[in-house]
Amino acid sequence: MKMGVGKYDELFNRIKERAKLVDEKLFELIPEKEPKVLYEAARHYPLAGGKRIRPFVVLTATEAVGGNALKAIYPAVAIELIHNYSLVHDDIMDMDETRRGKPTVHKVWGINMAILAGDLLFSKAFEAISRAEISPEKKAKVLETIVKASNELCEGQALDLEFENREMVSIEEYMRMISGKTGALFDASAKVGGIVGTENEEYIEALSRWGRNVGMAFQIWDDVLDLIADEEKLGKPVGSDIRKGKKTLIVAHFFENADEKAKEKFLKVFGKYAGDVKGKGIIEEDVKAEVMEAIELLKEHGSIDYASRIARELVEKANEALNVLPESRARKDLELLASFMVEREY
Ligand code: IPE
Ligand code: IPE
Ligand code: MG
Ligand code: MG
Ligand code: MG
Repeated sequence: MKMGVGKYDELFNRIKERAKLVDEKLFELIPEKEPKVLYEAARHYPLAGGKRIRPFVVLTATEAVGGNALKAIYPAVAIELIHNYSLVHDDIMDMDETRRGKPTVHKVWGINMAILAGDLLFSKAFEAISRAEISPEKKAKVLETIVKASNELCEGQALDLEFENREMVSIEEYMRMISGKTGALFDASAKVGGIVGTENEEYIEALSRWGRNVGMAFQIWDDVLDLIADEEKLGKPVGSDIRKGKKTLIVAHFFENADEKAKEKFLKVFGKYAGDVKGKGIIEEDVKAEVMEAIELLKEHGSIDYASRIARELVEKANEALNVLPESRARKDLELLASFMVEREY
């Protein structure tokens, strides 16, 4: 590696290359067409950007088991479509106003059209699967895997919402929630890639385990970024989870370790804007100051460091699962991608 070249640069280049192939099929499925408003709303997030990590996982997992990544393109597109549908609906639920550096779908087109745009993206995912050029047996397995992940995603999101109204949740409950809302789709991404590329059940199982752990680490790090990221870079609001009273691992640690006075100060802002108009993305300066104070408290109590450590441990556990796979550039990319997930700034 040359001096001055970041350790992720080559990985990013490959993600970009793959994203081009994915986007070609993705926009084939959601073209500019009538009703214009529906398709514009559905194309909004895919056009705005996004890291395209999940489809990269699908294609790279196929290669890591010795398969042809091109065969996995449509399943990869299906997973990115499901991801985007979940973002559109998530932003309604979380009342956020920015995503991928742009106004959220419901902010531009209203809640009703945003619900429909999400529905369309979800339905297009199954159109994508139907186009996959793989055997009927493999297609059935891919479908089953993606359906199971979609069910789990909804279950996890339901828990996430339910937890908003709870005083506190245990670490175990939090882990179950993120396993559903985020772990399941990463698990499915890696597993689907495996299914397309091999018949070896041991390999497929290893990829699935890698995806689950990586996905959970990804969500814990997302929760960290919600507190410490640069809003411009992140492309979504910082401090949103505090205002909404989201029960993250960071908050769970804080409540276990803070004294009454610190907790009281924290609760002045935590969850106080959940149903309020102020709970939206852009908030007034006085609220912002309170949110910043709450974030300081979390930092002081080592709660952010604690969550970061758990995320890194999950990444290690994930990468250990890959040891059964033959060594290859693709396997290395998955390992590197896992590390990036808990170091990223966006
Ligand atoms: C955001 O996912 C939603 C979570 C599961 C935390 P990403 O961070 O992968 O979002 P994009 O696709 O890059 O915008
Ligand atoms: C959402 O988690 C995960 C899904 C979209 C299923 P978050 O609500 O934390 O995701 P962001 O931070 O809005 O991207
Ligand atoms: Mg959410
Ligand atoms: Mg959200
Ligand atoms: Mg988040």
